[in-house]
Amino acid sequence: MVSISKAKVSDAPGIRKLEQQIWREKETTGKYEDGYIIRFEYAFVAKEKNKIIGAILAMKTANDEVYVEDIIISPKWQHQGIGKRLYETLLAYCGNIPILALVDTKNEASIQLHKELGFRGTKKLKNPFGVVSATHFLMRREKK
Ligand SMILES: CC(C)(COP(=O)(O)OP(=O)(O)OC[C@H]1O[C@@H](n2cnc3c(N)ncnc32)[C@H](O)[C@@H]1OP(=O)(O)O)[C@@H](O)C(=O)NCCC(=O)NCCS
Repeated sequence: MVSISKAKVSDAPGIRKLEQQIWREKETTGKYEDGYIIRFEYAFVAKEKNKIIGAILAMKTANDEVYVEDIIISPKWQHQGIGKRLYETLLAYCGNIPILALVDTKNEASIQLHKELGFRGTKKLKNPFGVVSATHFLMRREKK
């Protein structure tokens, strides 16, 4: 059974491991970044037999919005409703506040997921992170 819970700082290494597995980059996040994000309060994990198989990491912006920094599901667990459950948990936790996410324009699964949750693409951004060459949609879910 997959359970969803608020991430604890002690979950940070497990989240980082999953990020490295998904994004195939050794330095996807800095050593302390996940712990740092978790302390911002908007991070949840999906666990199966105590192993982290999914995570959503978000933070509050200076404009009273929540920015979703990453959502990742272990490949073997994808397309089984876990991403949606993680997002719904975050949305319920955030309450009545706009939510932002940057989604690669080629990432059909993620674009679909965000649309299903009420996000709309607001604009296209080229290389928003300045590291790899990619175009992202800035997607936004208005207050509900
Ligand atoms: C994108 C991702 C987070 C979705 O999470 P998930 O648990 O696999 O998705 P869910 O099972 O909750 O699916 C919810 C909806 O997302 C969309 N979706 C999910 N996987 C999809 C796929 N492979 N193809 C097309 N749409 C897909 C569908 O609309 C789906 O609704 P449906 O089940 O009614 O068809 C997950 O696949 C993932 O971690 N991918 C790799 C990392 C990544 O791209 N993260 C997003 C960064 S912005």
